Amino acid sequence: MFDKAYFIQDCIDAIAEGQGAVRDVVAKAVADGAGILSELGEPEHAGVTPLYRSDELTIINFVWAPCMSLMPHNHQMFSVVGIYAGREDNVFWRRTETSIEAAGARSLGVGEVATLGREIIHSVLNPIGKMTCAIHVYGGDFFQPAAPRSQWDPESLREQPWDIGHVKSLFRDAEARFNAVASRSDQVPV
Ligand SMILES: [Fe+2]
Repeated sequence: MFDKAYFIQDCIDAIAEGQGAVRDVVAKAVADGAGILSELGEPEHAGVTPLYRSDELTIINFVWAPCMSLMPHNHQMFSVVGIYAGREDNVFWRRTETSIEAAGARSLGVGEVATLGREIIHSVLNPIGKMTCAIHVYGGDFFQPAAPRSQWDPESLREQPWDIGHVKSLFRDAEARFNAVASRSDQVPV
């Protein structure tokens, strides 16, 4: 059964060995998605909740609002993504001379894990009408990276400095939009 304290310690131990070892820890955890849900609780709100943070390691519980998307961004550190409820669609981007272009995609369901290299640029979509929950583990301090990070405007694909405040507001706005639509549809007579 998933245990948050043991999981954090396993990640701390694995980070010294590298991304492959972290991947194994995350894969073992998300193989028991129901166990993570019972330990962390059913998601009530979309958001980014750190479970652990140091200079070498950040563990985040991501809860994506239904049908929300997050613009292309990089991390400047490796990451491992494991899904324990719902589905997370990733688009991978590569730099061009003036901007970025889509280079690939991967859709992750419950129990699946993706490893992202330090240079990866990705955007994320929750393609379903309920919350998607994922554990993201980063090989550094996600909130205060040593190298500056970028995000790309989702319409113009113009590069901008990463803005964590903006990202958090996207989660809040996506949840508010979903709740507004859900409450409107509750009022439609059938
Ligand atoms: Fe990311």
